[in-house]
Amino acid sequence: MRKTISPARRLRGSIEPPGDKSISHRAAILNAIAQGEATVENFQGGADCLATLRCLRALGVNIDRDGEGTLRIEGGGRFGLRESADVLNAGNSGTTMRVLAGLLAGQPFFSVLTGDASLRSRPMERVVEPLRAMGTRIQGRAGGSRPPLAIEGGSLKGIRYRLPVASAQVKSALSLAALYGKGETVLEEPAPSRDHTERMLRAMGVEVLGGEGEGLRISPPQRELTPLSLRVPGDISAAAFWMVAAAAHPDAEIRLAGVGVNPSRSGIIDALASMGASIAVEAERVWGCEPVADIVVRSSSLRGTVIEGPLIPRLIDEIPVLAVAACLAQGETVVREAGELRLKESDRIRTTVRELRRLGARIQELADGMVIQGVGSLKGGECSSHGDHRLAMTLAVAGLTAQGETIVRAAEASSVSYPGFWQHLEELSSR
Ligand code: S3P
Repeated sequence: MRKTISPARRLRGSIEPPGDKSISHRAAILNAIAQGEATVENFQGGADCLATLRCLRALGVNIDRDGEGTLRIEGGGRFGLRESADVLNAGNSGTTMRVLAGLLAGQPFFSVLTGDASLRSRPMERVVEPLRAMGTRIQGRAGGSRPPLAIEGGSLKGIRYRLPVASAQVKSALSLAALYGKGETVLEEPAPSRDHTERMLRAMGVEVLGGEGEGLRISPPQRELTPLSLRVPGDISAAAFWMVAAAAHPDAEIRLAGVGVNPSRSGIIDALASMGASIAVEAERVWGCEPVADIVVRSSSLRGTVIEGPLIPRLIDEIPVLAVAACLAQGETVVREAGELRLKESDRIRTTVRELRRLGARIQELADGMVIQGVGSLKGGECSSHGDHRLAMTLAVAGLTAQGETIVRAAEASSVSYPGFWQHLEELSSR
């Protein structure tokens, strides 16, 4: 699908971004192994989260989803899953594949996980290697480093493991396997990644020690997990598109209601603030075990910045759209220590640089990031998402602030994480 985006004369309005993708996956997976029924409101209906539901249903979990985004999940306990009759298909979703690999490692049955062409090219040794160390028999293409993955689950032992990269998917996979291990599992990360799994496990009655810079320590629980009903906060990674659009557009004010502001995810707010954006975080409150706020962003004159170090895992998914802000800022922006971007749904360093150049950006690739010279304004042009949801929406934001018309090819990729994106774009922009 091709989308044509005309420059917006003005950006105004208030929207609720879709439910957080990371929290939605976890709410479904963890409640599936709790004992009893949970209700999850504002579950994200994008293709990735639906892939998780499909896999859980194939594993015998009863899940009802109504048209309003409310799930009712009947958890059958830690050992309530049953062997799937077929291959489990995670689609485009790295979180589904990696986190379920950890869960299935502890199950006394055989599972095969596959995905689409993008997911089948993404690295899996980061979960396979430590799961093997815990005692799982797990095979995959290229010696276990590429999907499909075939898992013969069973009894596991706890391990002490230092993750080579900050990855919440790997940390979550190993945390779930730890629930089935003999003895304690200790996980250390080079920098803190998103902590939704730890928060949820604690709220479900599992003793999770450490975290926040210290090793995370998890032992198999004595009791079943308590179901956790919650309302999923709005996705800050979805809200980020409108934060950048509003900050970079000369006539804008956008209110984003009910957005998750977990500090392990809120790097985009800090990065935009350091670029001089007018961004207010209001009405902070708590939904379930997560902080939520309303965020108001107004037209700002932006300046370049440096994005590196522990900030990177706090905004990894927002770097493509931050590159648009950097194009429209004054001066130079440098992103480094973000080599993980090359291993996402597309090689996001290469695709972001290549596609923004088509729109007039002055942007250079680095091995682990990019350097962007502010050009004041982008021009319209034809570009492609490369089938990557975040790139489709990044290019749409570029189009809203550009001089001429922008055509985004393969724009339907946005539905992986933000099914209502194009409707929100229409609601917020006047032409
Ligand atoms: C996610 C973790 C991050 C992120 C992805 C979602 C999660 O990936 O980029 O979009 O839900 O745990 P990594 O674990 O590879 O860093």
